[in-house]
Amino acid sequence: MKPLVDGCDEDRASSPDLMEGEPDAGTGAHVTEDLQMPREHMLDLGQKVLDLVVQRIESLPGKNAWEGEFRQVLEEQLMEDAPEEGRPALDVIEQVANEVLPWATRLDHPRCFAFVPSSPTWPGILADFMAAGHHINQCTWLVASGPSQLELVVLDWFRQWIGYPEGAGGLFTSGGSAASVDAFFAARESAGHPERATVYMSDQSHSALPRAARVVGIRRECIRMVPSDEFFRMDMDALARAVASDRDSGLAPIVVAANAGTASTGSVDRLEELADFCAVEGLWLHVDAAYGGFAVVTEQGKRRLRGIERADSVGLDAHKWFFQPYEAGCLLVKDENTLKDAFTMGTDVLQDTIWGANHPNFSDLGLQLSRSVRALKVWMSVQTFGMAAFRRAVAKGMELSGRAETYVRESPILEAMNVVTLGIVCFRINPADDGLDEAVLDKVNRTVLARMFWDDPAFMSSTTLHGVFALRMCIINHTTTWDDVRETLEAVERFGNETLTKGDALV
Ligand SMILES: Cc1ncc(COP(=O)(O)O)c(C=O)c1O
Repeated sequence: MKPLVDGCDEDRASSPDLMEGEPDAGTGAHVTEDLQMPREHMLDLGQKVLDLVVQRIESLPGKNAWEGEFRQVLEEQLMEDAPEEGRPALDVIEQVANEVLPWATRLDHPRCFAFVPSSPTWPGILADFMAAGHHINQCTWLVASGPSQLELVVLDWFRQWIGYPEGAGGLFTSGGSAASVDAFFAARESAGHPERATVYMSDQSHSALPRAARVVGIRRECIRMVPSDEFFRMDMDALARAVASDRDSGLAPIVVAANAGTASTGSVDRLEELADFCAVEGLWLHVDAAYGGFAVVTEQGKRRLRGIERADSVGLDAHKWFFQPYEAGCLLVKDENTLKDAFTMGTDVLQDTIWGANHPNFSDLGLQLSRSVRALKVWMSVQTFGMAAFRRAVAKGMELSGRAETYVRESPILEAMNVVTLGIVCFRINPADDGLDEAVLDKVNRTVLARMFWDDPAFMSSTTLHGVFALRMCIINHTTTWDDVRETLEAVERFGNETLTKGDALV
């Protein structure tokens, strides 16, 4: 079906011939005079890029998990004016592969435990290439009907996994930050955009959440960071008190943002109690499940995230615990009209994009107009490997982090700092019976983190838990083995013992 008027093809008659390109005597590569390349050259370059990427992935275990360089060095290497004349594409590709891309944390390294590591599937990587190669702009149905339908398919999978009813909807976003912005905007609009709108989240919420609130116009003083309990879950009494006292002061509570896997510890707020509370108070419940949401594909994860299905909106990141290349965020809402009402805008230049009654335009549901087909990577990965493989891969993170917690609890020198729920283990050097004071422990653990950074191939990071410095390992990469985890913990113990013995950090 071709909905546009006849005649628009006439403009194509004058398109220029493809430039064939001339082989360059020195390099054998083809030099092109405009922005096109001959077929053979495209294929050669594509093969070269494939080789480089596959080689990189294969070589990961033999490399350090972290790599980086100082700005001054990189500036000297790379800063230049845009060249007037081009050079052989192979040189350009090799420069990128040798001088640019290696200077980055290898987030897909089996011993990368810092922040939120993950390892994208190969079909997912190829999907991004195919989406670019097909030059998809999945803004509206008319512009990209096949990709739009595919996004609906994948969103429907996600809907079922979290237990949302039919009729729920949403869209893919760049990530959890953008999903939170879209969710808060919809929440604010559905509350009638009140003066002094106020939002609630826990002191464990990711910084993306208060920033999203600021982006949608919530004043700083109307963003409440509710204290968390000993398990790093939002304190329900403190929340109730804050909402009541804010109402008394004339503020307008509109949304509670709960955590389903905090970035610090993986803790999950009491989702069912929060859903009850929000229902009574007439508040929108958003669940930030960017980190932990995909645990629902396992039975254990489903139990831990019980109540997520009662939220008004849920943010998920498939580039975290669902093993996709960046960017693969998603926002699901229980009532799709809340997004439509908030984001749909009339526009003359897109008036032709209204095509039929049941053809959704994803640009009506969120911030972006031009957008890639992010759902493709999830779809291709799941079609290739099947959900059983994904369930095993997610469950592996649960299992390894559980074993790591046991290791920590049995260690004479380590102290566990969280109860592991979703893949994250926090701990510190604190030998039983040594009676070291907090200032010393802080110094010892910072020293150990620095030793890990410089002297060990693994890369781990830290967090602060109720004011206390903690070492942190996020163990969700499906290529990580128990040996990777155990040897990393052994290195921490070794550096801990050396630091304590040397005593440098104790004075
Ligand atoms: C719990 C949580 N929420 C939100 C975000 C932000 O997501 P993104 O980086 O995809 O924007 C993160 C990122 O790590 C996160 O861990």
